Amino acid sequence: MTAGQTATEGQTVTVGQTVLEADGLTKHFPVGRRGGRVVHAVDDVTLTLRRGRVTALVGESGSGKSTVARLLAQLYPRTGGDIRLHGESVTVRRGRRFRAYARRVQMIFQDPFASLNPTHTIRYHLTRALRIHGNAGEGRAGLEQALTELLGKVSLTPAERYLDKYPHELSGGQRQRVAIARALAADPEALLADEPVSMLDVSIRLGVLNLLAELKERLHLAVLYITHDIASARYFADDTLVMYAGRMVEGGDSESVTQHPAHPYTRLLIASAPDPDRILGEVLPEELNDEDTGEPPSLIAPPSGCRFHPRCPAAMERCHDELPPRFDVPDSGTGHWAACWLYAEPAAGKEGDAA
Ligand SMILES: Nc1ncnc2c1ncn2[C@@H]1O[C@H](COP(=O)(O)OP(=O)(O)OP(=O)(O)O)[C@@H](O)[C@H]1O
Ligand SMILES: [Mg+2]
Repeated sequence: MTAGQTATEGQTVTVGQTVLEADGLTKHFPVGRRGGRVVHAVDDVTLTLRRGRVTALVGESGSGKSTVARLLAQLYPRTGGDIRLHGESVTVRRGRRFRAYARRVQMIFQDPFASLNPTHTIRYHLTRALRIHGNAGEGRAGLEQALTELLGKVSLTPAERYLDKYPHELSGGQRQRVAIARALAADPEALLADEPVSMLDVSIRLGVLNLLAELKERLHLAVLYITHDIASARYFADDTLVMYAGRMVEGGDSESVTQHPAHPYTRLLIASAPDPDRILGEVLPEELNDEDTGEPPSLIAPPSGCRFHPRCPAAMERCHDELPPRFDVPDSGTGHWAACWLYAEPAAGKEGDAA
């Protein structure tokens, strides 16, 4: 076994190994009864989830984050693009192939109360999940052991204290832990967490985030962490991706993206985030466009060119009609990119470019 590899339950796992990839992922929802008009919820999203790493997906309300997660979980059919699990293209809708996919890619939702059935105990929820995924062990004793281990993984111990309770008898944080345990019952490789703490009291958010970080380490999960809160991405995620109006605008290691944001939209997000120890540097609110209404654009008729151009203080002529590709951000972390014309290479061969 080489460095970076560890054994979990008999299998060798390489930390950093690619689990799930999206390539050009696109989702347009039809609107209205007459055909033709669509909401451009997600356009051309490309991302990679790796074992033992948390990737944050950050953006304001309506930017398409949940749609990306639901596409990755194969809960929606996609309009375009590809999803690959261990390099293999997968499209599943229901039945046995869907369950086989869900065993490896699990999702947890914002509201643990809505995702647990109030008329059933914790034992019922977890037993059902273990059985569906064939992890309920042998006989009664096997099941009890599997249940105890599962609750242990989310630090709800001793298990007997929780198993026969109903969801309403638990606190919000405990309910979210049960929802996480239920996802872990599948023994997944990837966990898609859609705003997993935004409905919890501020005082218990950190505990649940720390639990996810611990699971990433211990079970080598590939975690997608969806959030509005870019400050928590810095704290908790290895990599950070920023979405605006259905498109990915910036990405890289979390430190680079949050401490040296390159895209004007990311700078706006950080300037409005309540993070006391961020380095403001050049990211001053005065830099923002006076005409900025603070409103995201219509996704039925999204702006041409760069979708952020109507709000962007640095917008240039070409931003109105040319869609910027990903450019490397110079002097920053490797792999730090921004889809912004500010980072376009100057045209080669011009005088004075010799250096
Ligand atoms: N089932 C649907 N039918 C039509 N439009 C939809 C549907 N689901 C999402 N949308 C639209 O797609 C866009 C992206 O929505 P999505 O829920 O992915 O955003 P989000 O980033 O998760 O927002 P929030 O932070 O509020 O959860 C929004 O304009 C939304 O109204
Ligand atoms: Mg959402």
